[in-house]
Amino acid sequence: GIDIKTLRSEAGMITLDRGYKNTGSCESAITFLDGEKGILRYRGYAIEDLAEKANFLEVAYLLIFGELPNKAQLDKFSNDIKDQSEVDEEMKKILDGFPKSAHPMGVLSSLTSALIAFNPSSVNVDSEEDMYKAIVKIMGKFPVLVAWTLRKKNSLPLNYGDDSLGYVENLHEMMFERPGKKYNVDKSIIEALDKLLILHADHEQNCSASTVRMVGSSHAGLFASISAGISALWGPLHGGANQAVIEMLEGIKADGGDTHKFMQKAKDKDDPFRLMGFGHRVYKNFDPRAKIIKRSADEVLGGLGIDDPVLDIAKGLEKEALEDQYFVERKLYPNVDFYSGIIYRALGIPVEMFTVMFALGRLPGWIAQWREMRLKKEPIGRPRQIYVGENLREFKPVSER
Ligand code: ACO
Repeated sequence: GIDIKTLRSEAGMITLDRGYKNTGSCESAITFLDGEKGILRYRGYAIEDLAEKANFLEVAYLLIFGELPNKAQLDKFSNDIKDQSEVDEEMKKILDGFPKSAHPMGVLSSLTSALIAFNPSSVNVDSEEDMYKAIVKIMGKFPVLVAWTLRKKNSLPLNYGDDSLGYVENLHEMMFERPGKKYNVDKSIIEALDKLLILHADHEQNCSASTVRMVGSSHAGLFASISAGISALWGPLHGGANQAVIEMLEGIKADGGDTHKFMQKAKDKDDPFRLMGFGHRVYKNFDPRAKIIKRSADEVLGGLGIDDPVLDIAKGLEKEALEDQYFVERKLYPNVDFYSGIIYRALGIPVEMFTVMFALGRLPGWIAQWREMRLKKEPIGRPRQIYVGENLREFKPVSER
């Protein structure tokens, strides 16, 4: 519902809109979203078509530059990224300093920020050419950082990719390749991963994209903006929901699998428990990505011959929610992350890496939002406030307080 107040302050009229529920922060030509009708399009292309027919790198190009690439453009983009797929050896020392127990999202955000020290030219981007260089750098180095955060957790030696592979397969190999063992992956796993990354690639002015734009608006540079976006994505109300969902489903399973009991908990306003993976700020009918992902979960698990009781619990919860007045009235439906964790797990990706995978998928969206903001020469982001604190007070030294 509408929740806007307009208040007069000494500075004039200020609109107070907590959580920016009804405030547009920019004009954008990247992603179209109709929350009532459940429509999502990247640059005018239906998400259903892109998930089915395109690959992640094509979608990245589309989001960032506005058009689907032809063969020559895609080859150039891909090769420029490959040329940038090494990170400075000193970065290994930084990674080495983290405890093994560190959450991969914190590690990834820190490493992304640390990249600036080794690539200082990525900060001042005065031309489209400078921007392009910064973009292919981060697209090339990010999968390496993603893979390394996992390898660190698994005590595996740090590696680099194989230039002969596609973007997603290369990422997968970097993550899972083990010394002395021949790397082999089922093609369906790469296809499923590619699809998940596409579905996560952009979602207009969400919390992390707005963070990227906000930080970027101070001209802090692309990598610093992306690092901030990763931190924003980490939270369980945003990208961290995919980890929270699987932990919740596991918890329900361990408790005996009574979905009804947890539905009641979610509705109890005195209980902080929320049904993770349900509800969305914008989608109030269904999340089109959730539809695609639910189908994909069935296909992937079926194809790999996995019988996961957690998928049955998820379907049970969804069915109950669709018939429950509380959820129906508040238009709470499964969002993209309700089923994504189940697929990630089936693909052998550990739970703590789920949000990292989301970050990798969202990378092109963050880049596209940042680039659009810079090209449009948007002013620095600086919201106003309504001050409700004390009036002028007399200072007393500590001895008199
Ligand atoms: N379980 C139970 N009740 C819920 C849930 C939920 N998952 N989500 C919303 N509600 C209730 C709220 O308690 C509120 O009820 P009230 O009107 O009686 O007070 C009403 O529905 C509206 O919810 P808000 O929190 O005001 O909606 P908002 O737009 O601020 O929040 C959000 C959206 C954060 C996604 C919320 O639905 C939520 O916390 N969901 C669970 C976390 C999650 O899945 N996040 C991932 C989002 S998708 C993404 O980032 C990729």
